Amino acid sequence: MTPAFPAVWLRHNCPCPDCRDPVTGQRLLKITDIPNGLVATVTAQHDTEIVVTFDPDGHRSVFRRDWLAAQALAAQGGADPDPRTEDGKVLWRAADLAAPHTADWVAYTSDDRVREGCLGAVARYGCALLRGVPVSPGMVLEVAATFGYVRETNYGRLFDVRVEPDPDNLAFTSREIAPHTDNPYRDPVPTLQLLHCLRDARSNGAVAGGDTGLVDGFAAAAALRAADPESFGVLTGTPVPFGYIDKETELTARQPLISLSPRGRIAGIRYNDRSMLPLRLPPAEAEAAYAAILVWARLLARPEFLLRLRLSPGDCLIFDNTRVLHARTAFAATGERHLQGCYADLDGLLSTLAVLRRRQ
Ligand code: OGA
Ligand code: ZN
Ligand code: ZN
Repeated sequence: MTPAFPAVWLRHNCPCPDCRDPVTGQRLLKITDIPNGLVATVTAQHDTEIVVTFDPDGHRSVFRRDWLAAQALAAQGGADPDPRTEDGKVLWRAADLAAPHTADWVAYTSDDRVREGCLGAVARYGCALLRGVPVSPGMVLEVAATFGYVRETNYGRLFDVRVEPDPDNLAFTSREIAPHTDNPYRDPVPTLQLLHCLRDARSNGAVAGGDTGLVDGFAAAAALRAADPESFGVLTGTPVPFGYIDKETELTARQPLISLSPRGRIAGIRYNDRSMLPLRLPPAEAEAAYAAILVWARLLARPEFLLRLRLSPGDCLIFDNTRVLHARTAFAATGERHLQGCYADLDGLLSTLAVLRRRQ
């Protein structure tokens, strides 16, 4: 039958109760128990099922036709896009989006379709904005709990972003912060970040600033690949060290600024000038790496990529920290701007999204 499926593929995916536990749905068959030189023969065809018998062990499998047809789509021509790479995303520049996908908190928490739209936007666009989240400390953790699990770090389960007298991170000053991803010195990085605005820079008067910027790093990386493939190759092939140190913490990680999937597709962005450590490379390689990093940094700073927005109290931004870079403009140190942030992970969000879709 089915030239789309090698005999070993069929045997490994046999759904019979000897090969797959009917209770958990998990595989019982050990792949090492599949004999070499396996041959599959279709021994019966029914309306909805196909019976396959294997030589030399005589095992018999019954496959549903619709299940096989769905698998065949993926097997033909390798056209199954990896949802974590650029192939599973909608890439954007500032002009393509008026704003991130936006939803009201009450609707989000009471209507599965609103929640699905919001989580789907994080998966496809890399960001979404919830409005009207109660302006009370700790709510950011409850937002994370609506789709997944908080990733606790040395900054705690949540962290406060406001001007501090003795900051150990530039985020806790009133300075401008250029587009970056958070915690590049962690391996693995938190794949999602949430920022909940409790007070904006204008809360105590006419003080301006503290606006948020978002950059689709996948769109920028695709632009770099098109314009300057050589720099793109250097960035994907050079591990860059990042570090963070304070009294209790010493974190380092070495990863490329742009990471590719096993198929060579754009799959991750890691960029934060504040915490990049000295490159430990031979001089010629260091020079080439710096040249490529400069091209990349200048491209990331182009206004066409920067989606600007102003978080107001009650706004909670959710974004993919492996794709979307975030930034903020400077504000007056007297402005009592206060955000609370936390980290979470995409796997949990994608699981919640898949379950919501299954229910509909
Ligand atoms: C951060 C950060 C941005 C802001 O805390 O990681 O980048 O808007 N903050 O203050
Ligand atoms: Zn079986
Ligand atoms: Zn940040």
